[in-house]
Amino acid sequence: MKDIYRDRRNRLMKSLGAGVLVLPGARLTTRNSDVHHSFRQDSDFFYLTGFDEPASCLILSHDGQGKTESILLVPPKNKEKEIWDGFREGAEGVVKNYGVDAGYSNEELADVLFLKLEGHKTLFFDFDRDRSTDKAIHDVLLRFKTLKRKNPVFPRKIQFFKDELGEMRHCKSSQEVELFKQCAEVTRKGNEAVMKALKPGMYEYEVEAILEYEYKRHGGTHGYGHIVAGGYNATCLHYHDNNQKLEAGTVLLIDSGCELPHKFTADVTRCYPVDGKFPPKIREIYEIVLEANKKAIAKCVIGSSIREVHREAQRVLASGLVKLGILSGDIDSLIDNGELGKFYMHGTSHWLGMDVHDVGRYDEPDGSAVLFREGMMLTIEPGLYFRKEYSGIDTPYEGIGIRIEDDVLIGGSGPVVLTSSIPKEVAEIEAIMAGK
Ligand code: GLY
Ligand code: MN
Ligand code: MN
Repeated sequence: MKDIYRDRRNRLMKSLGAGVLVLPGARLTTRNSDVHHSFRQDSDFFYLTGFDEPASCLILSHDGQGKTESILLVPPKNKEKEIWDGFREGAEGVVKNYGVDAGYSNEELADVLFLKLEGHKTLFFDFDRDRSTDKAIHDVLLRFKTLKRKNPVFPRKIQFFKDELGEMRHCKSSQEVELFKQCAEVTRKGNEAVMKALKPGMYEYEVEAILEYEYKRHGGTHGYGHIVAGGYNATCLHYHDNNQKLEAGTVLLIDSGCELPHKFTADVTRCYPVDGKFPPKIREIYEIVLEANKKAIAKCVIGSSIREVHREAQRVLASGLVKLGILSGDIDSLIDNGELGKFYMHGTSHWLGMDVHDVGRYDEPDGSAVLFREGMMLTIEPGLYFRKEYSGIDTPYEGIGIRIEDDVLIGGSGPVVLTSSIPKEVAEIEAIMAGK
């Protein structure tokens, strides 16, 4: 992997041009008292380094002639701290094991910045990633300014680079797709385990535990908080209490994805009948959403766009609601006048990768949609949610929430559904739950 990270750093600097780039990694954050949340490295930082220790910083300099120097500032070796908190690579370790040209202690950030910025005219830096690095940049520029009688050359231009890096991360290489497939496979295992265990009387948190257990025993964890929503709770889009009892005659919505140590994450939603059989009313809604899911997936081809995909899903959902007698009128008007939005209030897709809502633009600068290119990865997640409190409309479907979410790669010869092994047909789900 060392070469892959080096290649990414070189490509990024080549696209940016001459200058110095400073990118802080993530820090530990407090959970309560002196307890921390478990550490998750910043995705941009990890994409360029593969380095997973907190409070680190990457400095890249490019001379404009094609030569890039990479420096990592990392927590220094410290026997006592390592006894308490675990191994640290230290400045020497990162050179040896992470392929950077030099390593320093993160305590030396101010001096290393002063040394490395001198002679460069452009600083590539995104404010607001990390307060203390913002301050270090401010301080080092002031330090240069106070030396003005010596007339040093230092960056007088600051350029944001998040968009350029986002563009790099946006289209996935075949190797990245292979990494992603591992996440999809573990997520499949989690869903299978749930289908086999699910029964009335269980609590939502028991299902969450099954998912997390499967992810953990394959070396992963959740890429975002598990949504485990029984019955009415599924009408809350990002429900996270996960603490209610599951009742017969209802459906459980699970929106969950495994993230593996390479930091790709799946993002999958499935709905399972708690007692193994879809009640007829719920099934009517399920079939409409499933059709929207499939038709939207079919639109995932080079040259199409998230806007087109969304429109397709909206059309199927609106037609379904008209057939059920819940809405009436012209399909496109129902979409444009907000009537469909009373039951389908979110987008159909977002980019997917190392972040569940991954980097990548949605619109071009002229306002047109970004068109699909080979290697883009996105979710397809239509849904229908019946809650009079929101829609103002009484329906026989009150309290039903259904979403079906797959992860799709824009392939050279059509859509590739990376989560196709996770069952979504009614008959298939019911057969598995019946132990067949
Ligand atoms: N899991 C969050 C989403 O589907 O966007
Ligand atoms: Mn999603
Ligand atoms: Mn999701």
